Amino acid sequence: MNIYAHRGSSGTHPENTIAAFQEAARLPIHGVEFDVHLTKDGKLVVIHDETIDRTSNGTGYVKDMTLAQLKAFDFGSWFSPDFRGQSIPTLHEVLQVFAETTHHLNIELKSDIFPYEGMAEKVVGIIGELELDARVVLSSFDHGAIRNVKQLAPHLETAALFMEVLVDPLDYVRAIPADALHLFFPSALRPSIRQVLETDAIVRTFTVNEIQYARVLQDIGVTAIFTDFPEKIMMDLKEKS
Ligand code: G3P
Ligand code: MG
Repeated sequence: MNIYAHRGSSGTHPENTIAAFQEAARLPIHGVEFDVHLTKDGKLVVIHDETIDRTSNGTGYVKDMTLAQLKAFDFGSWFSPDFRGQSIPTLHEVLQVFAETTHHLNIELKSDIFPYEGMAEKVVGIIGELELDARVVLSSFDHGAIRNVKQLAPHLETAALFMEVLVDPLDYVRAIPADALHLFFPSALRPSIRQVLETDAIVRTFTVNEIQYARVLQDIGVTAIFTDFPEKIMMDLKEKS
């Protein structure tokens, strides 16, 4: 079972910052996940929430600020004084951290609240410029966005994100179409997903921070987990259960 660092190594470093991504890049894990929004001036930035309130010393919506305005805020101190001065990273800056590594890169398009017109096109563009096509999976709770990605670039891997308990999930995912299912952890244990796991479908599960749940998911054949503590889960999974 593969391990992805969720929002970088976000249990030990401030989520979605260069510090969290450098830590993930250091680890011999399969991949890393991060979330993308669009600024007022059309720049791709990596942050989880629609606002900067929770993870910075500022306040307001990402969509209402320019990149220059967003860069003035501190995205590290809320987590620990040790990370003071971390700024909001652009997508390009995050991808540069992994330029010399082999990590699989899960770019989550956060267009499920605000539509962020043109964001999917920009993300597909930067992937092409940096020749990362074979190293990415684009996911979203906004299934229209990943349908759009498939139309723009059919060769790119996509994944549909779900919080819900699903009925006939493979039929739905094929209809989008998407290549993989990214499931909220408890629903991955439901009978409908056991049936999916009997096929060769790609199933990744978020967010798994406890070793006993990671082991259960490994036993039922889940492809990968997203965790805030990738180093710890990696070490614990190596130990015999
Ligand atoms: O992509 C997996 C996971 O990150 C989805 O949920 O809210 O953490 O972005 P969230
Ligand atoms: Mg995410």
